[in-house]
Amino acid sequence: MRLRKLLWTTRNSSQLLQRLSALILLAAVGAPAQTPKTATFPTQMPGHDAILLGTDWYPEQWPESRWEEDLRLMEAAHIKVVRIAEFAWSRMEPSEGHFDFDWLERAINLAAKHGIVSVLGTPTAAPPAWLTQKYPDTLRVEENGHRAVHGLRAHGSVSSPRYREFCRKIAEQMAIRFGHNPNVVGWQIDNEYGYANMSYDDHTRQLFQGWLKNRYKTLDSLNAHWTTTYWSQTYDNWDEIPIPIGEHNPGLLLEWKRFVTDTWNDYQKNQIEVIRQHAEARQFIIGNFMGFFDGFDHYVISQPLTFAAWDDYVGSGHVDPDYNGLAHDLTRGFKRQNFWVIETQPGAVNWADVNNFLNRGEVRAMAWQAIGHGADYIGYWQWRSALNGQEEYHGTLLGPDGTPVPLYDEVSQVGREFTKVQGYFRDTQPVSEVALLHSYDSRWAIDFQKHTNKYDQIALLKSYYHALRRLVPSLDVVSPDAPLERYRLVVAPDLNLIPEDLAHHLLDYVQSGGHLVLGPRSGMKDQFNALLPQRQPGYLVDPLGGRVEQYYALEKDFPVSGVWGNGEAKIWAEQLKARTPETQTLMSYGKSNGWLDDQAAVLTRSYGKGRITYIGAILDDQLMTAAARWMLQDSGVSPILSELPEGVEVSRRSGDGRDVLILINFAPEPRQIKLPRSMQFLLQDKQGTTLDLPPYGVEVVTASK
Ligand code: GLA
Ligand code: GLA
Repeated sequence: MRLRKLLWTTRNSSQLLQRLSALILLAAVGAPAQTPKTATFPTQMPGHDAILLGTDWYPEQWPESRWEEDLRLMEAAHIKVVRIAEFAWSRMEPSEGHFDFDWLERAINLAAKHGIVSVLGTPTAAPPAWLTQKYPDTLRVEENGHRAVHGLRAHGSVSSPRYREFCRKIAEQMAIRFGHNPNVVGWQIDNEYGYANMSYDDHTRQLFQGWLKNRYKTLDSLNAHWTTTYWSQTYDNWDEIPIPIGEHNPGLLLEWKRFVTDTWNDYQKNQIEVIRQHAEARQFIIGNFMGFFDGFDHYVISQPLTFAAWDDYVGSGHVDPDYNGLAHDLTRGFKRQNFWVIETQPGAVNWADVNNFLNRGEVRAMAWQAIGHGADYIGYWQWRSALNGQEEYHGTLLGPDGTPVPLYDEVSQVGREFTKVQGYFRDTQPVSEVALLHSYDSRWAIDFQKHTNKYDQIALLKSYYHALRRLVPSLDVVSPDAPLERYRLVVAPDLNLIPEDLAHHLLDYVQSGGHLVLGPRSGMKDQFNALLPQRQPGYLVDPLGGRVEQYYALEKDFPVSGVWGNGEAKIWAEQLKARTPETQTLMSYGKSNGWLDDQAAVLTRSYGKGRITYIGAILDDQLMTAAARWMLQDSGVSPILSELPEGVEVSRRSGDGRDVLILINFAPEPRQIKLPRSMQFLLQDKQGTTLDLPPYGVEVVTASK
């Protein structure tokens, strides 16, 4: 049953939270969250531990006589998986049509003797020199018209039919050879999908024009949706349409991004199909994504893959638990199930501004954070420094001399801990009552026309995440068209594109009892990136019973106050106006630019069995915290551990009638967490009602054995 106390003040909210604090822990450990009935765990392989540690091994870079020692050291660190071969094309196909997989088979089999299974990467991010030199059309053409230089990577042309043919052949040969190998558990296609790089050649332009024709059918339709009479852009022939470089028509820009997505999807399917033809169904197929990278739409690219996986790199500085936690949740949302961290940094990278090393304990804390957010595998890139090549300085677990670096012990500890407690994680996943909506279309649309260079959509998403995630043990990040019925609260921080069908989907959710919260810039545009001929939030104006009168990019903060307290609107503010008596104003602006003075900043209205709320400004952190409490309270979501000390993250995985909590202290000082009753600390092997965590301290807690 939902609590619906609209005018629930900040003061009341903290009192209620105090009363609820003991309750929630009981909920967290006594009444396990319901795992959806359809839950499957392709990320956990039968016959293998539920959570696994691994590394990236490049046997082709070392004499075979060395392999045994590498694998012995891996086994000692509880490493159970290696990813191999993803850059070994020149070893696997040393000359055109001549394949050599014997060495790879020996490596895979030797690893298996050490209890280590292999994930095979198709090597298509690094075509060999004989290929690109004999067939220059397999190399990408850059935006400036020059062909890419051989010897980096991602220099192949994703849209070249000839390149695709070579990719398909090598993938096919690998699948024929290893598709039944019991020690090969899965496949990775390419590597980081070439950072979504495209080839700007005539063939690609023609493909794009054909793709547009297929989508719009007639030029009249395209011209109308893109308003091409503007600046005489009207197209009379499909072959007049350019690939956009730099700024261009917003409709054209958005379609180009979608075309890039479809092109990479076809590129991966070309390999997936042939692997599926020859490989056993138990072998999974993944790609390796890059967190918030937005070169293509990851919801589309994830579809033909078995599960999502990503490469979790901090770069300069230290792990930001909110940013990293959000990126894990984003990745979990691609397929709405658990995922793998196929690569992460063993201490330092080599490509950031300052390649500082993570602090002692930080690598372990990151590994456990990933598990808490639904990862079932953590892989360290890479095992040992190659003696030459572009990444000589990158972090590793062994030095160039082949012996462990200091971090090896910390990673071994993670491996030992995974092995010890993995059974508790079998068939568990984060189960959330709250979702954040994330859309590539909207992200692109806003980034094409930011209107203020201060508008950072990831920062905005993170501000909602931070406020909400402190009060709930998990949060989903999903595409707006995902099924929403299971959520009590759905928050869309800046859903710029709300075409009519999406508006219906969101309204169905509200009408059946959900609480939809929209942030600024919502509901402004249609699927063609054209302005709607309504005010914001477009098709949702009537249900909200209010609209945006005008939006303002802010050069300084403006005061805002109301039921969430007093604070500041930052970067962006919209003047809202209620148009029905039932629509309530929760927050209003104070004296600002004259236009916003005393005007509504937040509106809310009951609609159907649910509620719709519109927040017209970017709010400061304190207001976000109060807003988050209000949203959860109104939606009937029980908060977790309201007294949680600053810097401590609690995550919960549920399933199979059990809950497992992962508590991590990211604060620089020790923290103490009081539990409502005696619970089991699985890593320390003891029971307790008080948990002490040093900086980067981790504990896995459960109520039953
Ligand atoms: C210039 C151009 C106009 C318009 C305005 C916008 O003045 O001549 O067409 O683009 O800028 O500020
Ligand atoms: C990416 C790549 C790896 C390696 C690492 C280094 O994730 O996939 O091959 O280059 O970066 O950080």
